Amino acid sequence: MEDVVNVVLLGATYPPEMMEYTRGLAQVGARVYGVGDTPRQALPPLAKRYLHDYLQVPKLMDEQDVIQRVLQWVKGLKIDRVESLWEALVLPAAALRELLNVPGMSRDEILKFRDKQIMKDTVKAAGLRVPHSRRIKTVADLEAAAKEMGYPIIVKPIDGAGSANTYRVNSDEQLEELLPALRDVPEMICEEFIDGEEFTFDTLCIDGEIVFMSVMQYFPRPLLQRTLEWVSPMQITVRDMHDPRIAGGIKLGKEVIKALGMKTGFTHMEWYLTSEGEAIFGEIGARPGGALVVDQMNYTCDVDLFKEWARVVCHGHFGSPTTRKYNVAAIFKRAQGQGNIAKIEGLDEYLVRHRPWICVNRISKIGTPRRNWRMTLLSDGYLIVRHPEWDRAHQLATEATNNIHLYAAY
Ligand SMILES: Nc1ncnc2c1ncn2[C@@H]1O[C@H](COP(=O)(O)OP(=O)(O)O)[C@@H](O)[C@H]1O
Ligand SMILES: [Mg+2]
Repeated sequence: MEDVVNVVLLGATYPPEMMEYTRGLAQVGARVYGVGDTPRQALPPLAKRYLHDYLQVPKLMDEQDVIQRVLQWVKGLKIDRVESLWEALVLPAAALRELLNVPGMSRDEILKFRDKQIMKDTVKAAGLRVPHSRRIKTVADLEAAAKEMGYPIIVKPIDGAGSANTYRVNSDEQLEELLPALRDVPEMICEEFIDGEEFTFDTLCIDGEIVFMSVMQYFPRPLLQRTLEWVSPMQITVRDMHDPRIAGGIKLGKEVIKALGMKTGFTHMEWYLTSEGEAIFGEIGARPGGALVVDQMNYTCDVDLFKEWARVVCHGHFGSPTTRKYNVAAIFKRAQGQGNIAKIEGLDEYLVRHRPWICVNRISKIGTPRRNWRMTLLSDGYLIVRHPEWDRAHQLATEATNNIHLYAAY
C-alpha cells in the first residue's frame, strides 16, 4: 500500500463528474479534502461516501476568499496536492499550491492554459500554426483588429469556456451591432476565422510525458452547436489514432504540450482541420474536457480515467493498458417546444435495434422540465453509443440525431 496522500480538491461537487474524481482519489488511497459551494447536507451520496472532509464556501468564484478559507481550514495538516479539474478553478488551485508549497504547476504556468492570448503567443513562438489574434480592451482595439485581419472574425472572451459570448462577425455592420453586448466584458480576444472541421486532442501527462492520449471530432463545430437550437450536437472519439486525417493534429498537440510546459494532469486541446488538410491550433486547457469527454474516453478503451488520473497525480504512474477498442459517440438531444417533456419519438426502436452498441441512455424522461440548451450542452439528455468501425459509429450517431425526437409542452 502506498502512502496516504492528502489532496485538496477545489470544486469537488460541481459539475457532477467531479464526484467521480473524488471517488478515483479515494480508491487510490488518497484522503480528499473537498471544497465546494454545495451545502454539506445536500452533498450527493458519492461525495459523502468518498470525501474525507468538506469545506463549504459562500462564493466559489471569489478566488481570494476561497484561498483564505482553505488556508485557515488546512492549518496544521500536511497537504500533498491541490487539484481542480474545472476550468474556472485551475488558477486558484495553482495559487494555493504555491502558498502551501505543494508540488504541481504554478499560477504562471497555468496562466498559459487560461489566457487565450498568452496561450497563442507561446504556441506561435514555438513555430506552430495558430489563428492570427489580438487582445482587445477597447472598441478602438476591436475595430483596428477587424481592419487588419479582414472578415470573418471571431470575437470571444480572453478566458472563456463552452463557447459562451463567442461571436462570428462577417461585416462592419455586424461589428457595430455587437458592440453593446461587449460593453461589460473587460477583455476579449479577436481572431481570424478558421474554416474547417473541429477536433480535440486530449491527454493525461506525467511531468510533461504523455501517458494517455485521445482524439475526438465535433459535429457540427461547437460554435454552431451553441448557436443553432435545432441541431443535435454529436461528438465521436476516433478509435484509430493512426487515421491519416488526424496525424497533423496529433503532431501539433504533442508540440503544443511541450511548448506550453505542461507537467502533470489532463489537457484538453481543440484544433481545426482545414479543407487543405492543415491542422491549426484552437485552444487548450490544463484540465479534462467537460460534457462527457472523459466518459467517452473511458468507453473507448474500457478504462477508468477518473481513477487513473488520481493515480497519476498521487503516485506518479499510469496503471492501465489502453487498447483502443471503439469509436464512442455522444449525441445530445434538444426538445421542440417549451415546458416539460411530453412525447418522445424513435427512442425505444433505436435502443432495441442497436442494443449491443448502446453504452448510456440519459435521454430526459417524460415529465422532466426542459433544460436550457444554451446553458448546458447536456440539454434534454444524451445517448452514448460505440462501434469498432468509424463509419458505423458515425452512422449510429447520425441515426440518433435524425430519428429521435423529443417534444415539450406546458
Ligand atoms: N478563430 C476561430 N476560427 C473559427 N472558429 C472559432 C475560432 N475561435 C473560436 N471558434 C469557434 O468558437 C468555439 C469556441 O471557441 P473556443 O476558443 O474553443 O472557446 P471556449 O473556451 O469557449 O471553448 C470553437 O469551438 C469554434 O467553433
Ligand atoms: Mg473550446
